[in-house]
Amino acid sequence: MNQPKAEANADEAYRLAEQKASQYFAKLSQQLVNNTHIDALIQDFRIWQKTHIHRWNWLSWFAGKRKPDANDTQKYMHWLSATGKIDDYLDRSISYIYMRDLGQALDNPKTKDKIQRIAKDTKAYFMRIASEAQRQADYISPAALYRWGQREQIEEAVIWVMDKLKHVAANIPPELDAAQAQRKLIKIILGVVLHVDDELTEDTPREERIAKLDAAIRLGYSYGLTYPFVDDLLDSQVLTTQEKEQYSAMIQQALHTGIVPDLGEWKGPQLEVIRYVHSELREAFEYIRDYQREEMRHTFFEQSYVFFQSQEIDRGKKLSNAHYTNEDLYIPIIIKSASSRLIVRSVLSAPEDEGFDLRTFHYGIYNQLADDFADMFDDMQAEAVTPYTYYLKYRDLRPDLINPYELYWAVISFLIHDVYHSNAKAREVILDRAINGLKRCRERLGQAKYDEVMTIFASGQPGLNHVVRQMVRKADDVDFLDKLLRDQVVLQLSNGKQEKEAFQQTIRTVREQINVELQIDKAAEELDMKGKLMDAANYSLQGDGKRLRPILTWVMGVQEYGLSESAIMPLLRSMEYMHTASLIFDDLPTQDNAETRRGRSTLHQLHNSATAELTGLFLIQRAIREQSSLQRFDAQTVLKLIQYSAMKAEDMCMGQAMDLGSKGKLLSLEELNTICFYKTGIAFEAALVMPAILAEVKDEEIDALKTFAYHAGIAFQIRDDLLDYGGDQHILGKPAGQDERNNNSTFVSILGETGAQKAMWEHYCLAADSLRQMPKPIPFLKHLLDYLVGRER
Ligand code: IPE
Ligand code: IPE
Ligand code: MG
Ligand code: MG
Ligand code: MG
Repeated sequence: MNQPKAEANADEAYRLAEQKASQYFAKLSQQLVNNTHIDALIQDFRIWQKTHIHRWNWLSWFAGKRKPDANDTQKYMHWLSATGKIDDYLDRSISYIYMRDLGQALDNPKTKDKIQRIAKDTKAYFMRIASEAQRQADYISPAALYRWGQREQIEEAVIWVMDKLKHVAANIPPELDAAQAQRKLIKIILGVVLHVDDELTEDTPREERIAKLDAAIRLGYSYGLTYPFVDDLLDSQVLTTQEKEQYSAMIQQALHTGIVPDLGEWKGPQLEVIRYVHSELREAFEYIRDYQREEMRHTFFEQSYVFFQSQEIDRGKKLSNAHYTNEDLYIPIIIKSASSRLIVRSVLSAPEDEGFDLRTFHYGIYNQLADDFADMFDDMQAEAVTPYTYYLKYRDLRPDLINPYELYWAVISFLIHDVYHSNAKAREVILDRAINGLKRCRERLGQAKYDEVMTIFASGQPGLNHVVRQMVRKADDVDFLDKLLRDQVVLQLSNGKQEKEAFQQTIRTVREQINVELQIDKAAEELDMKGKLMDAANYSLQGDGKRLRPILTWVMGVQEYGLSESAIMPLLRSMEYMHTASLIFDDLPTQDNAETRRGRSTLHQLHNSATAELTGLFLIQRAIREQSSLQRFDAQTVLKLIQYSAMKAEDMCMGQAMDLGSKGKLLSLEELNTICFYKTGIAFEAALVMPAILAEVKDEEIDALKTFAYHAGIAFQIRDDLLDYGGDQHILGKPAGQDERNNNSTFVSILGETGAQKAMWEHYCLAADSLRQMPKPIPFLKHLLDYLVGRER
């Protein structure tokens, strides 16, 4: 047969992988026949338990050192430290990552040093957080990520990847879980970054370090994309069978030829999804390909093909098929679990490393069997074929089937003794992990269900299973940092999702309500001529504004301070009247000379400048009238509010004047910040502070709100400048590119697009910091901040 060369190589690579996997599998199954590993494992546990089974110590109980729930991270870290457990905890956690993710042997002195160093840094980090913050820290907050990027001087890559993650979540079909997809991507990116970090030393030149970490983030994302958009997408029911075939064929072609084919004619209902996925994957694929050193390219394509192909084969299995052999069940997952990690080095175009390859190849199946064990009931429900679901279903009919739990222990023994040469640290860490996995499983399933599982899977090797069950009951100090972080991340993602939905819901409902309330009523007796200005005001008000300022006032007033909605309605109206007036003025030919606003012609375009100016003035007076009708509040308080409001309006005028006076000037960062705060930030401050004045809250709290408003307001304006530079005017509802036409000095004109993005994220971080200073968390403001820097209009 006349196959193209690349194709022959890919198929050959798969055949080789299959051969290796078969040999490995044969060794493991042989162990299960001889059962020689059982005694060795029991012996391993004898050694292991010495440091894991403690007699109950009443002293530590009296000292208040009872183990707290790991979900309270701060407390938990304190406890680890107070009981002297933290060093072992971090050592085991980091050693494990070095073994699993970096394919290292733990007896290598260089690796040992690194682990110790990282454990030390990590300890310092946690001790710092534990002492500083009063509340739970956010482990995956964009602010923390950005701060890290700053320290490493790779802000650009961090901004890039945050933007990418946002788009993934926005474009992923609803049948796939967006938060899970993000979590997986973050995990893969982290893995790639770790790999790169591990190769860097203190002597690596700064420039090289920056370039490598920057590339690691982009490569990690590019490679990580295959998880949601290849594996999960093909696993799901989003695509029709025909679409799946077409999609798989496209991927195979890309891996065979090194070129992503055009989408061509798409036969199926999911064109929109596929279009996004195709363009994103193509960009990713090309980024990786171009990064590859010439001589490594074939390795990368071959490994990717092997990875993809093993998943394809695995995916093709049906739980209803009663005839799979053990080889059918295990070989593809040995290949898939090994290649998913082996590929990371080839993505990075790292030189070949036999030791890494060997360890990683054997390691994969351990993780796979541990994960599948934990997920067996979910998988059963989804009718997915894993060694566990298959065994659950066919164990009575098929005595030839290997018990996957028994195989799992055979793998553990093989890893400890054959792969890591009975190294003490490797034994320690692997057994920690295994017992931890079972403990977690027992916790999740509950004792009864756990016992049931154990009866099914763990009755064949009574000697070993007795020991294991005893360890699960009695042994301690088997917790891992990555598990803790994972739990935290899952918790945060699900809380975050609920909060975000609540945030969006609030925005929607309050906006609708405000839209109704804004309308200025013309009394019947109002003369036509007099009514014209009111019509003009209503015209501007009716435009498609976001109503952010009154929404913010509503949330603070009603939700935070418990003020009555009807009582503060005049304030809400006044906020939007003032803001709309400021826009009418801003758009005038004497200022920004804009033709459209809120999706319609500007007022001076529709009528003339005089009408626009007078409407602006009219709206400001109406705003004051509204404020002075806040009848349900103490008169002194209302006077204070009106005075504050007038001062802020004066400041805004000065801000606009400074802005217009700075055309074409090279401003310093400080000047930019000042102008932006005056022209924009102040309105956000007012939106937060005015309800606080009415609620008579303490000055310190108002100060924290002001700091937040300062940074959030500037971040908002920087985003506005960025959108003026690169946004879509149809979405914006106002012209793009007007700053450049007007020769305005903006964050983009002074700092460039990337510089402006960095400045925006800096203000984002500072605003986020200020939120932690508030007496109690206000989730709405956190989400508002995310919204401000991510908005498209
Ligand atoms: C526009 O404000 C003026 C700036 C301060 C950049 P918004 O972007 O809030 O405008 P609307 O109210 O939604 O139209
Ligand atoms: C406006 O800044 C500040 C005001 C409060 C009016 P911009 O001039 O950048 O606002 P847009 O882009 O026209 O909305
Ligand atoms: Mg302007
Ligand atoms: Mg403008
Ligand atoms: Mg603008």
